[in-house]
Amino acid sequence: LAPRGPAAGDIANIWWGMCWGGCAIFGLVMVLAFYVVFRNPDKRPKVRATPLILAGGLALPLLTLTPLLFYGVKAGYRWSAPVEDDYRIEVVGNQFWWDVRYPDADGRGAFEVARRLRLPAGSPVELFLRSCGVRHSSWVPSLAGTMDVFPDRVNRLRIEADDPGVFRGECAEFCGLRHAHMVFQVIAQAPDEFQRWLAAQREPARAPESELQQQGQRLFASECGHCHQVRDTAVGSSSAQGKAVRPGPDLTHIASRRQLGAGAATEINAANVAEWLPYHRKTDVRIGMPDLSSLDEPSRRALAAYLAHLR
Ligand code: CUA
Repeated sequence: LAPRGPAAGDIANIWWGMCWGGCAIFGLVMVLAFYVVFRNPDKRPKVRATPLILAGGLALPLLTLTPLLFYGVKAGYRWSAPVEDDYRIEVVGNQFWWDVRYPDADGRGAFEVARRLRLPAGSPVELFLRSCGVRHSSWVPSLAGTMDVFPDRVNRLRIEADDPGVFRGECAEFCGLRHAHMVFQVIAQAPDEFQRWLAAQREPARAPESELQQQGQRLFASECGHCHQVRDTAVGSSSAQGKAVRPGPDLTHIASRRQLGAGAATEINAANVAEWLPYHRKTDVRIGMPDLSSLDEPSRRALAAYLAHLR
């Protein structure tokens, strides 16, 4: 009920129209009911059934529901026109995280980010939603309505934010035991800031700069590379690189994110990552992350140093 984008504004208008219309009809029915109960029957005017049924059962619903139908259909059409290429984004629902894929534009390279959808404020973007496995439903209440996410078809959803801001998105269809944690962030930025972010994300990962980070990179390839990818590095030989469907998020620029582990930490630095590595097993046990608590302290520190370096 606090819309921050035009689609959410349309939905709020429909909601308020229905709310006040419903209140008015409820009030009318109550007045009639009190009239019937408390008015002396001898003094009530005699009303014939047929005109009453025609007026209350046919004319009134037509009068109230027809404008609502037209408004709803018009809003639906307004939100299905195509958008610019840069602003077509593929979203894949996994158990239990969202993979957001920005397309290749003029050969500048495609890239992915997990659990985070960036978009330019004031311009509509079009999401192409599909699932990998079970059904989900994407919902950013401040910006748009829900859209079901199926494994065997692609659903389209246009969303737009009026102004820069950070909005919460979630999965609105029960999809398994960690459904309630399947949240994502929508970050609307000023258009030039968004373009700078696009360019930075299209860059390959930073090469390791210290011995510790190099050791971390090797560990990443052996311990994490089966599920995660880091673009254009030695890790490229891992089996997860370039897969259309990967079990874990792309970590090429993990340190440029605002959160770690769906909000487990709000700042990504080597200390936080090192602490989180053995702990995530407890929080992410249902998503099939392997147990990393067997990693010794120095290995953990090396891995964390490498990941925190990937800005
Ligand atoms: Cu995905 Cu609920």
